[in-house]
Amino acid sequence: MRILVTGGAGYIGSHTCVELLARGDAVTVIDNLSNSREESLRRVEGLTGREVDFHRVDLLDRPGLDRVMAIAQPESVIHFAGLKAVGESVREPLRYHQNNVAGTLHLVEAMAAIGCRRLVFSSSATVYGHGAPPLREAAPLGATNPYGKTKWIIEEICRDLAASDPAWRIALLRYFNPVGAHPSGQIGEDPQGLPNNLMPYVLQVAVGRLPHLNVFGTDWPTPDGTGIRDYLHVVDLARGHLAAVDHLDRLAGCVAINLGTGRGTSVLELVSGVERASGKRVPWQPSSRRSGDVAVSFADPTLAKELLGWTAELGLDAMCSDAWRWQVGNPRGFAAAP
Ligand code: NAD
Ligand code: WQD
Repeated sequence: MRILVTGGAGYIGSHTCVELLARGDAVTVIDNLSNSREESLRRVEGLTGREVDFHRVDLLDRPGLDRVMAIAQPESVIHFAGLKAVGESVREPLRYHQNNVAGTLHLVEAMAAIGCRRLVFSSSATVYGHGAPPLREAAPLGATNPYGKTKWIIEEICRDLAASDPAWRIALLRYFNPVGAHPSGQIGEDPQGLPNNLMPYVLQVAVGRLPHLNVFGTDWPTPDGTGIRDYLHVVDLARGHLAAVDHLDRLAGCVAINLGTGRGTSVLELVSGVERASGKRVPWQPSSRRSGDVAVSFADPTLAKELLGWTAELGLDAMCSDAWRWQVGNPRGFAAAP
């Protein structure tokens, strides 16, 4: 299949490109490299022995987008491109709405212009707000920050679009907490500056770049007092996208689907996992709760199994050891690459 991947140079996009190329799909990537480096795609090519048709284009550049669409003529689009830092979105809401929402409007217009109406979109469990786990797709939506609201708004746009024209087939994939890296250690998450998320922070402590982890709350109503999340191996997540693309024709219009393991892991369990994988100690200090956090969040992944035949296969040890292999081989991410 000919597949256009927006944001394909990024963390989840690059892992998905590996899986697509490995099974023989033709892959075109659009990315403005605002949060990634082209080196990730060079490594994708090295891992698969296949070429990525890469275009450095911003989704807000509609003529540029039209040019790539016209050349690539994709049968399906997987749309990862977006800004994703929750705190930054609170400080710069307009930038988030412009980039994520307006960028998606450009994308679906450009798709319609070439007659492509098959879309897989990166939504997020953040659209459930403070909902109670296990989270099912029918749970009420309630994003609590501008980033989450962009995901919710884009979901609504996609639902309206599919209702207006039954030719649209759209899968809204609500990811829980993607972590880990390709088992080769060649590609992985490469946060710029201080990591916002737990796993990259813990890895940078383990590798000696940061002195200790601040644990945001040790008095949550959980067995060890720390927050519980549904961590999901990025390779499992990438494969979920292939399953979604393959099942688009069987989905009725626009469907939201959770991608998670259905299992919860606490902050301290994840810290122990990284310690086991790395053989390093991860010093940590109790810190106050982070604003907007919930005690426990995990998916009900039943629908993904029913509709896509997809379930997560890789456990916490694989997440930690693959993430560690990437971190130790690339302590400064892609920046240090020639
Ligand atoms: P990422 O930042 O590594 O990848 C996103 C890519 O999109 C980057 O390469 C960036 O350069 C590109 N991009 C951003 N705006 C663009 C624009 N206007 N035009 C072209 N390219 C643009 O992030 P990721 O972790 O790989 O996330 C991918 C998607 O999944 C995002 O939409 C994110 O919101 C969503 N998501 C991520 C997580 C997570 O924890 N990583 C969880 C749920 C949902
Ligand atoms: C996990 C746990 C923290 C950092 C975020 C976004 C969400 C989605 C995934 C995109 C929590 C604790 C964290 C640290 C800590 N992204 N923690 N010390 O908050 O579940 O989800 O990423 O859609 O929208 O909100 O993930 O990795 O930030 O936190 O103690 O330095 O680790 O309190 O319990 P979160 P996270």
